[in-house]
Amino acid sequence: MPAPARPDDGDGAAVLRHLAIIMDGNGRWAARNRLPRLAGHRAGVEALRRVVEAAPRLGIEVLTLYAFSSENWKRPAEEVSDLMGLLRHYIRSEVKSLNENGVRLDFIGNWQALKPDLVSLIEEARALTGGNTRLTMVMALNYGGQDEIVRAARALAADAAAGRIDPAAIDVAALAGRLDTAGLPPPDVVLRTSGEMRLSNFLLWQAAYAEIVVTETLWPDFNAAHLMAVLDEFGKRERRFGGR
Ligand code: IPE
Ligand code: IPE
Ligand code: MG
Repeated sequence: MPAPARPDDGDGAAVLRHLAIIMDGNGRWAARNRLPRLAGHRAGVEALRRVVEAAPRLGIEVLTLYAFSSENWKRPAEEVSDLMGLLRHYIRSEVKSLNENGVRLDFIGNWQALKPDLVSLIEEARALTGGNTRLTMVMALNYGGQDEIVRAARALAADAAAGRIDPAAIDVAALAGRLDTAGLPPPDVVLRTSGEMRLSNFLLWQAAYAEIVVTETLWPDFNAAHLMAVLDEFGKRERRFGGR
């Protein structure tokens, strides 16, 4: 399927390069279907597969996915362990086909603090897919926007204390360059499924001028048609970036 023509493709005004998704609603989907929460998370992984397959065909270059927040540790231990198990299984079973499909798999968040076997899987996935260019898929794992900004500030402070950088030279670009997302374009759209109107600590810095799209669809029900509807919605937005 070729990427469909979009109204502003010509002047580049409305090209959705980077889509960031808060994949929410797995628990409600499970409850609605009278299933355990784990079944909702499993169905959520299926939705993730669908979206990763459809995204590059729609011209999307970067897909950032909120998979586990730095606050999700507050959930019952059993659910945390189910989620970690699913992530482990997803990376293990998908990395080969992602690689074959030209997907570069990367991670943001304090993923280095996860269990050592998961850290190894992540490092292997990054090394294997690092040269791919068709789609950059960024998984936010143990991610919190505040935590990310704190880590970046700490790195800059250490550079300043060691005399490597003049504090007066710290600007927007310097801080952005220390975030986990350094080198990635900012998200054009932050999409949240399941109707909640909040960011829940996702990409606080990077979303400064992102278009916010909230859909009522629960994440496990999300498919390529829903994704195309997001592109349509984005095409109708007027982005001003503070100008007129
Ligand atoms: C999103 O679904 C998945 C994660 C946060 C990991 P939820 O589990 O938050 O689903 P709801 O919000 O309870 O429906
Ligand atoms: C945000 O969803 C985190 C992920 C989707 C991974 P939550 O379900 O954790 O957010 P809150 O608790 O409703 O704000
Ligand atoms: Mg939720």
